[in-house]
Amino acid sequence: MNVFGVDIGGSGIKGAPVDLERGDLAEPRHKVLTPQPATPDGVAGCVVEVVRHFGWTGPVGVTFPGVVTGSTIRTAANVDKGWIGVDAGRMLSERLGGLPVTVLNDADAAGVAEMTFGAGRGRKGTVILLTLGTGIGSAVFVDGKLLPNTELGHLELKGHDAEKRASSKAREDEDLSWEHWATKRVQKYLAHVEMLFSPELFIIGGGVSRKADRFLPLIKGIRAEIVPAELQNNAGIVGAAMAATAEKAGAPRR
Ligand code: BGC
Repeated sequence: MNVFGVDIGGSGIKGAPVDLERGDLAEPRHKVLTPQPATPDGVAGCVVEVVRHFGWTGPVGVTFPGVVTGSTIRTAANVDKGWIGVDAGRMLSERLGGLPVTVLNDADAAGVAEMTFGAGRGRKGTVILLTLGTGIGSAVFVDGKLLPNTELGHLELKGHDAEKRASSKAREDEDLSWEHWATKRVQKYLAHVEMLFSPELFIIGGGVSRKADRFLPLIKGIRAEIVPAELQNNAGIVGAAMAATAEKAGAPRR
């Protein structure tokens, strides 16, 4: 069965029909640049463009880079603050001519996809996926069950918002070496998260996970196993589609 997934990111909005048996895109994805500022109206127009590109008329799952309760946006750290309080599910459904729309946090979507089809497959106990990108997203699982909206990217690290120090954007903006970023930023961040949750496994996602060999081997002193995400760029799209199917089947989403 195919269901449509859309991933709203700080720089791009991308989507494709997803083959839920394989956990992979059924067709090459379509991507448009995120409008700046990323207002609800501007982003909704892009979501419509991505969905229409495929002539899609079924259920749609959408990720959002902030806290989502029900289908209402509660925080917007790296997108326009006009999103806060918007019922994104209802708004996007209206813009899509009434298609059913399910909305969830971007890292939660990526985590759900990784736990089913990627690096977390079959893993029990506490597993934490962290996406290192523009911000830091988190998805916490216990025996495969998601605790949604954990927002561990906003833990405090040395008096700063952790994502401002350990995200991939922080490495680029501050022109940090891989070694400095890995040992002084990511390792310290992981140690802090490990102190709080003692997970068995950390899965590191986000675009930078493609370059995992440049920084994961440099990280020392963490008890948990640390592995790169396997679905990489498509995890959000796949997880969004999975969430839309769960909702359609009437299963409790969270
Ligand atoms: C947001 C999270 C999001 C993460 C990755 C953070 O700034 O607060 O909700 O998952 O960025 O996009």
